Amino acid sequence: MTIADRVRGVVEAHRGERGALLPILHHVQEEFGWIDPQVVPVLAEELNLSRADVHGVISFYTDFRSEPAGTTTVKICRAEACRSVGAEQLVADAEQVFGVKVGQTTPDRSVTLDQVFCLGNCALGPSAQVNGTVHGRVDRSRLVEILAEGNA
Ligand code: FES
Repeated sequence: MTIADRVRGVVEAHRGERGALLPILHHVQEEFGWIDPQVVPVLAEELNLSRADVHGVISFYTDFRSEPAGTTTVKICRAEACRSVGAEQLVADAEQVFGVKVGQTTPDRSVTLDQVFCLGNCALGPSAQVNGTVHGRVDRSRLVEILAEGNA
């Protein structure tokens, strides 16, 4: 099945929804891990939008990844409760440890560093999600440990 066919399948699943572009883009990203540029013309055609419209939405929202994610995705919670117990320090530490900024992937494509706003683990902040698993009370050394354990 081609990328275009898979994208058409996603569009079909959202047919009839109002303001479907955002949910469709989220769905596409879930399915492919990122928004491949090849997706843009297919979505534009299917949704009767211009390519510039679709591209504009993708680039406006930082949630959408325009390159494939690394093997491990680290998402650090930056919402209120986690901020109050050091999330910003954890972000700064993670940026230093991985040598990339939030939203970027290491050059060897091993780690993508992302942010998230609440993981439902507020009482145990700072929280981070590593390849889908939520960890609490994360600091620099715990983060390094989690990655070393392959506990992602
Ligand atoms: S605020 Fe961080 S998990 Fe809820």
